[in-house]
Amino acid sequence: MPIDPKSPKNSRRAFIATTAAAFVWLFTGSRAAAAPSVSAGAPCKVKGRERTVDGVTFVCRNAKGKLVWRRKPGNAAEKIVAVRVLESAELGIGETKVVNVPTTAGGTAGVVLTRTDAGITALKVNCTHAGFPVARVGNVLQCELHGSQFEPGTGAVVTGPATRPLIRYDASEASGGIYVTLNA
Ligand code: FES
Repeated sequence: MPIDPKSPKNSRRAFIATTAAAFVWLFTGSRAAAAPSVSAGAPCKVKGRERTVDGVTFVCRNAKGKLVWRRKPGNAAEKIVAVRVLESAELGIGETKVVNVPTTAGGTAGVVLTRTDAGITALKVNCTHAGFPVARVGNVLQCELHGSQFEPGTGAVVTGPATRPLIRYDASEASGGIYVTLNA
């Protein structure tokens, strides 16, 4: 039997079907379009608390009255990796070399490597006084700008005006190579 669209019974059916479809969209379609939440592996209960998962740091933030994990600004999904910077044979005991280590941000960082009887020390090349690069002079790492001197095996201050030691990175040796991890 043909359906008469003008019949009051059929137009009521069409109205009900349209309304039901609208509700289905409201509860499923709109929810699917919502921003995905970030899970940092544990409930976010204390505002300001930080949590690092797989090399990415999250901060517990208040968003519209709810505490949620948000990726820490400036903390892109950077993974900390050890970079092979020299062959082991290229750094003898008592020697110092400056190498440029690629960073995950696309630049490079200057690192001073020194081998002593205790192992290999990797230090940030920039003086902690005002950032000028240091260089090996005799038994110390010296900053030519204002004369600070540092101990090559530890980064400790020997002579000011710098008051803080050089920043130290992890250095390791494996498979005939020297590796540096830029973790600071
Ligand atoms: S920058 Fe090195 S001593 Fe001032």
